[in-house]
Amino acid sequence: MSFSKSIYRVSLSAALLFTASSLAQHDHDHAQHDHASTQGTPGHIMHERHENFETMGEAFKTIRDQVRSRDADMQAISRSAETINDLAQQLHTWFPAGTGPEAGKTHAKAEIWQNKADFNAAAERLVEESGKFVALTQTGDASKVAGGIRGLGGACKNCHDQYRVEED
Ligand code: HEC
Repeated sequence: MSFSKSIYRVSLSAALLFTASSLAQHDHDHAQHDHASTQGTPGHIMHERHENFETMGEAFKTIRDQVRSRDADMQAISRSAETINDLAQQLHTWFPAGTGPEAGKTHAKAEIWQNKADFNAAAERLVEESGKFVALTQTGDASKVAGGIRGLGGACKNCHDQYRVEED
């Protein structure tokens, strides 16, 4: 698959607009949770964190599914890569003190708060890997994009192995 540069630019800005509006839509969907009385509470922060990881998981799944499909939708891949990169940059702010296992049901391990610098480095690794992956999607070269998934997924796994409780 290859793209002419100019067509790509147009579709990329459309993709960014789409990302912005779908994020706004997402906020809207969860507006009922944004009562002033609960905002900033551990429960609220943990809920938002969960939503953000779900969004990240969906974006990663879109990338994997599209790359596997015979006719990969490079715009969807690009959009999802941007979503992951945007969220990766915020990730380190989703874990304020008091939002660990002591505060309620979560898959976040207490070790996150014991090794905050190491945890933040794992988040930074995702910022870097997802940034590299965004750049690959901008080449429009499907085989390069497919080859980049391992590095991206590796940054997710690296953190999950250490800091996320296994799903039961
Ligand atoms: C720096 C650490 C870190 C990185 C990097 C990371 N995650 Fe996670 N992820 C977590 C933690 C911690 C949880 C559990 C959060 C909770 O339960 O509050 C989690 C949970 C999730 C969940 C389940 C939703 C939830 O709230 O339980 C999904 C899906 C997910 N991550 C996807 C991804 C994907 C996809 C990537 C890479 C593109 C990624 N994560 C990268 C730490 C990370």
